[in-house]
Amino acid sequence: MLRTMLQAAARSDRLERMVGRNRLLRPAVDRFVAGATADDVIRAARRLADEGRYATIDQLGEACRDARAAEETARQYVALLGKVADAGLADHVEVSVKLSALGSELDWGVAEEQTRLICAAAEEAGTTVTVDMEDSSTTDDTLRVLRALREDYPRTGGVLQAMLHRTEGDCRAFAEPGSRIRLCKGAYHEPAAVARTNGADVNDAYLRCLGVLMEGGAYPMVATHDPRLVAGAAALARKHGLGRDDWEFQMLFGVRTDEQRRLANAGHRVRVYLPYGPDWYRYTCRRLAERPANLVLLGRAMLSR
Ligand code: FDA
Repeated sequence: MLRTMLQAAARSDRLERMVGRNRLLRPAVDRFVAGATADDVIRAARRLADEGRYATIDQLGEACRDARAAEETARQYVALLGKVADAGLADHVEVSVKLSALGSELDWGVAEEQTRLICAAAEEAGTTVTVDMEDSSTTDDTLRVLRALREDYPRTGGVLQAMLHRTEGDCRAFAEPGSRIRLCKGAYHEPAAVARTNGADVNDAYLRCLGVLMEGGAYPMVATHDPRLVAGAAALARKHGLGRDDWEFQMLFGVRTDEQRRLANAGHRVRVYLPYGPDWYRYTCRRLAERPANLVLLGRAMLSR
C-alpha cells in the first residue's frame, strides 16, 4: 500500500512542485543522489574508481516534452562525457540515459537522434552508454531504438525487467556475444496482465532470464541488491564458466554499500548507478518506494536536524 502510494507520488507533477522544491526530502536525496553538478558526480566517480568500483552516471530528469529541452539534456551528457575523458575515468565510467528525458514522449525519432549524439560522444571518450528501461508501455519502442543504435554503436547497453512476462523472450532475442544487457526486477508499478506481482515469482524469472543471457554469450549486468539473486548470479556464472570480464554486478548509489565493497574485494566487477542533478524528485520517490522502511530512516534524519 505504502509502496503503491510512493510509486504514485513519483508520477505526480503536483507533489513534485510541492515537495520537490523544499528541503523536506533532503536526507533521502543526499543518500541516493551524488550531487547537483557534473563536477560533483565526477568526484564521486573518482572515489569509486579509487576503491576499485565502476560507475554508470545518470543525469536526473524525466519526461521532457520539448525538443529544445531534449537537445539541452543531450548537450549536457556530451559535456559530461568530455569531463569523464579529461579526468582519465573512461575505463571506469559510462553513462545511463532515459529516452523520456531525450524526447521520446514527443517523438521517438527525436529521442533516438539525441541518444545517437551521446553514443558518438561516449565512443570518442572511450566508453559506453546504457539505455534505461521505463514503464512497460515503452518497452517495444525502447528496444527498437536500442537495436537501431547498436547498428552503429554495438556496445550500447539495454535494460530488461524480470517482472514482465515478456522478458524471457526478450532475453533470448538479446542473448548474443557482446550484447550488454542490464537485468533488473523492474521499478515501475505494472498491471498483472503484463507483470508478475509475487516477489518469489519475479526472483525465479530473474534467474531464468539471467541463465538465458549467460548461455547465449551476452554480457549480463546483474542489477540487484537482493542477496538471493546476488548469490544465484554468482552460482550461474560459475556454472557457465564466466570470468571477471564476462559479466558484472550493478547496484545503486547509497544502497548496500558494504555489499558493493565486499563483492569488489572478492574480485567481482561492481558498477554503481550514480545519479546527479537538480531534478531528483521522481528518482528519490522510486528509491523510497522500493524499501518503505527507508521512510523511517528519513523521518529520524529529519527529526535530528
Ligand atoms: P529488492 O527490492 O527485493 O531489494 C533487495 C534488498 O536490497 C532489500 O531488502 C534491501 O535490503 C535492499 N534495497 C533494495 N532497494 C533499496 C533501496 N531503494 N533502499 C535501501 N535498500 C534497498 N529499474 C527499471 O525499471 N529500469 C531501469 O533501467 C533500472 N535500472 C537500474 C540500474 C541499477 C544499477 C539497479 C541496481 C537497479 C535498476 N533498476 C531499474 C531498479 C530495479 O528494477 C529495482 O527496482 C531495484 O533494484 C530494487 O530491486 P532489487 O533487485 O534490489 O530487490
